[in-house]
Amino acid sequence: MILQRRNRILRANGAIRSLVAETILTPNDFIVPLFIVEGENVTEEIASMPGYYRYSLDNTVKEVKHLWSLGLKCVLLFVKCKDELKNQYGSEALNSDGLMQRSIKAIKDAVPEMLIMTDVALDPFSSDGHDGVVENGEIINDVTVDILAKMSVSHAQAGADFVAPSDMMDGRIAAIRLALEENNFTKTGIMAYSAKYASCFYGPFRDALDSAPGFGDKKTYQMDYCNRTEAVKEAIMDVEEGADIIMVKPALSYLDIIREVKNAVDLPVSAYNISGEYAMIKAGAKMGWIDENKAILETLTSIKRAGADMIATYFAKDVVKLIS
Ligand code: PBG
Repeated sequence: MILQRRNRILRANGAIRSLVAETILTPNDFIVPLFIVEGENVTEEIASMPGYYRYSLDNTVKEVKHLWSLGLKCVLLFVKCKDELKNQYGSEALNSDGLMQRSIKAIKDAVPEMLIMTDVALDPFSSDGHDGVVENGEIINDVTVDILAKMSVSHAQAGADFVAPSDMMDGRIAAIRLALEENNFTKTGIMAYSAKYASCFYGPFRDALDSAPGFGDKKTYQMDYCNRTEAVKEAIMDVEEGADIIMVKPALSYLDIIREVKNAVDLPVSAYNISGEYAMIKAGAKMGWIDENKAILETLTSIKRAGADMIATYFAKDVVKLIS
């Protein structure tokens, strides 16, 4: 054959492949989710997330120091609330001495440069296991938004750098921004879970925090996975309401959404490589059916290639070791 162009020339060996690689993972790309529980010296493996743990605050601080030493610069905090503290309004979320607020302070004291993002939603604190307040079987938007704004101020007061509302109520970004401004928190960022889909892949996370909905599902507030344009609408609204970072979640079944949102907004886009996505790779690897390290690199690269400027992932420690 006489060909004008042979595409295999640029794939011929490792050196040329690395020269032309368009997407390179670095430790700067990752946000590390952490699950914090009450107690001392607790390290509990999460059954549906093998190799991932819930830590008490003392062990969390040790872990954060370790993460910093690996070059990981951002953590996203989730706390497991004791059953006896849960109620209809998730009041424990506002406790200035609650586990979240104590954790923010302890981590800031120990590793001041570590960027701290905090989850803002009621589900871990709600006796109904929903992200918002439930009245007569319905999730009440405006009452919830008021609590989420107070929760965000409480996290900012404790020292959070970013609050990350993951609840999907309408109008919460504007309300949170206003509350932060009114309380003089002019340096606190908002990472909005703008396009968060009602997904079956959250299952292991709900085990980790014991936060599964007590009834029904989350389809009246989280998005329908049949929809794409709605994600763009949500993202643009959150930009207008004052978000600093726009998130798409989950990641792997939503790579098209990440790209669509990235093209539509002029803010950094993050993606959440969620618990079920972690569990699938772990399970496949345990069976010997897929190569875990290769799967981690391929999936995280695909998320960045889709347009994510940063990725929250339970594989953060693994991937920095793989790329170093
Ligand atoms: C809840 C919240 C969820 C996750 C982050 N924040 C679960 C849910 O919406 O039910 C999921 C993260 C994961 O699965 O890794 N506000």
